[in-house]
Amino acid sequence: MTSHRVLFVCLGNICRSPLAEAAFRRAAAEAGLAVEVDSAGTAAYHVGEPPDPRSIEVAEKHGIDISGYRGRQLTVGDFHAFDFIFGMDRSNMTNIARIEPDDARARVSMLLDIVPGSEGRELSDPWYGGEDNFRATWEDVTMAADALVAALVAKTR
Ligand code: 4NP
Repeated sequence: MTSHRVLFVCLGNICRSPLAEAAFRRAAAEAGLAVEVDSAGTAAYHVGEPPDPRSIEVAEKHGIDISGYRGRQLTVGDFHAFDFIFGMDRSNMTNIARIEPDDARARVSMLLDIVPGSEGRELSDPWYGGEDNFRATWEDVTMAADALVAALVAKTR
């Protein structure tokens, strides 16, 4: 079975993209879909660090332990290693495009563009927000994970 290789990208790789990674890992496992998943940040601010405590907490509330994840920065090699790269907001998309090589294999798009009815909506940064913002982030990444799994299952069939 082919494995779908998916990379989620935000700015710091400590709030949104680790949650997107966790939600997608779970949704894919539940669907029996073979995937290779990772997340990265366009910035190097938090390389080697665990996710934000508020992200760890919201994932934990949903039974997922992301405390072992570590931040890393997006590389040019990622455009060759992954089938899909998803940015969270327009600023991420600009930063991703800045290093995208001409011969990238990955298809790059904004994450909520794959959710029917949420096309064009940004998955905004919860970093300066509170618990409510992290809860909303979890809801958004879960919705996107489910939509992506459904699309990949349909494609694989
Ligand atoms: P993320 O959130 O991009 O969802 O991981 C942020 C994390 C850190 C910073 C900004 C956004 N920061 O400025 O350090």
